[in-house]
Amino acid sequence: MKDRLEELRREALAAAQDAACASTLQEVEVSFLGKKGRLTQILKGLGALSPEERPAAGQLANQVKNDITAAFAERAGALKLAAFEAELAPGSFDPTLPGPGPSPGGMHPVDLITRELEDLFLTMGFQVADGPEVELEANNFDRLNIQADHPAREAHDTIWVQRASQDSVGLCMRTHTSPVQIRTLQEMGAPLRVIAPGRVFRQESLDATHEHTFHQMEGLMVDKGIAVPHLLHVMNTLIEGVFGKALETRLRPGYFPFVEPGFELDARCSFCETGCKVCKGTRWIELIGCGMVHPKVLELSGVDPDVHSGFAFGLGLSRIAMLRYGIEDIRWMMGGSISFLSQFRK
Ligand code: PHE
Repeated sequence: MKDRLEELRREALAAAQDAACASTLQEVEVSFLGKKGRLTQILKGLGALSPEERPAAGQLANQVKNDITAAFAERAGALKLAAFEAELAPGSFDPTLPGPGPSPGGMHPVDLITRELEDLFLTMGFQVADGPEVELEANNFDRLNIQADHPAREAHDTIWVQRASQDSVGLCMRTHTSPVQIRTLQEMGAPLRVIAPGRVFRQESLDATHEHTFHQMEGLMVDKGIAVPHLLHVMNTLIEGVFGKALETRLRPGYFPFVEPGFELDARCSFCETGCKVCKGTRWIELIGCGMVHPKVLELSGVDPDVHSGFAFGLGLSRIAMLRYGIEDIRWMMGGSISFLSQFRK
């Protein structure tokens, strides 16, 4: 047993020295020390020794194992250093070559849609407006004719930053981009054509179709003699822009405090002939909230409703992007996953 162990040590040490690369070295190491390796084979013979011989043999076996392990570790270090030095050797490394370029990023699907729709609305004479995400309660609600007792004001819908009190104004994360239209209307007056894309925030219980942060695009047109046909024309143009073809549309009555009359606009499902998951079998997809601006809203922003009238609309950009690209869960949108985002390269 002793001779066999000594012999094994000699052979292993020599084999470690002979290994010319890291992978060979590892293979050789396994052939000596692995579960089915030669050392294990020898150790199986320990049981056959007499009780007097066993302790010394066991000790030697341990010693041999440690020596072999150390020899392989040392050789691995030496090989690594040699490989590193070879890389640095003159002629084998050109430090003037350009490094790997950055991998191309992707546009966020919502940004893709936003840009497309911005271009479309610019051709119809609309301007694009921006506004703060933390908004005055007055702009998010009051000036939109949303009464103090309207359920949307309650905490389950709105994320409050500061509640109104005797010495402070109410501040909230904007729940829609309508306040941007109010700001623009107050600043520029009538006539006006404006769209307001951007992030909005709501206190929601989150699931595949509800997120606390999502994107909307709202629009407002105010001029003399604006009526429902103008609204319809712009909405149909918008839908054609979104889906790449004209779709049949229909208006249903809808309630929003800032429009009168208010509508829900549905478009024919473009994904099926007979009903599918997207249209929930109805063949209609609910897309846009819209209506004729309530005279009170115009008045509150300094526009005379006897002279000017207007229409307003709002649509979920996140939802449009999901429809367009077949994204089934809204939580992907703000999830920050590179593998998701890199699919929208353009
Ligand atoms: N502001 C509404 C919302 O966020 C959308 C809307 C805008 C509806 C304009 C009608 C007119 O739900």
